Amino acid sequence: MATNRTFTMIKPDAVANGHAGKIIDHITQAGFKIEALKYTRLSTEMAGNFYGIHRERSFFGELVSFMTSGPIYAAILEKDNAVEDFRKLIGATDPQKAEAGTIRNLYAKSIDANAIHGSDSDENAEIEGNFFFSQFERF
Ligand code: RTP
Ligand code: MG
Repeated sequence: MATNRTFTMIKPDAVANGHAGKIIDHITQAGFKIEALKYTRLSTEMAGNFYGIHRERSFFGELVSFMTSGPIYAAILEKDNAVEDFRKLIGATDPQKAEAGTIRNLYAKSIDANAIHGSDSDENAEIEGNFFFSQFERF
């Protein structure tokens, strides 16, 4: 299993607020190389499948409706120790708890509208990257 790739989405709040460019710059300045990038919008079915692990949680409905509320950027990123380093770069799920200087600390407003997604394991990074990109879209 590759340990040098992760998957991210710049979520609808950050896109709508005009923060996507700054966030992509933040990511590349931190040493992540963009292997694939796409501007798209999730359907309800796609968002439900993507966050299927949370299907039974109280916040699932809100999560799906938020993630389908506008366009997103999806990307596969490459760097040594990508999954762990990227989770550090984005900060805690709740932006109130995210460390100063992290992407969620800088650009997120709430636990629902938290600006960015990062894969939580190498296995999920691979699954999530393959969910969005074919081999011909990866460079
Ligand atoms: P993500 O998958 O989007 O990168 O976020 P995460 O790993 O930091 O958090 P996760 O546990 O995977 O939850 C997915 C998204 O669900 C919302 N959430 N709300 N109200 C709550 O207690 C709660 N917990 C999670 C967040 O928007 C989170 O990003
Ligand atoms: Mg997660």
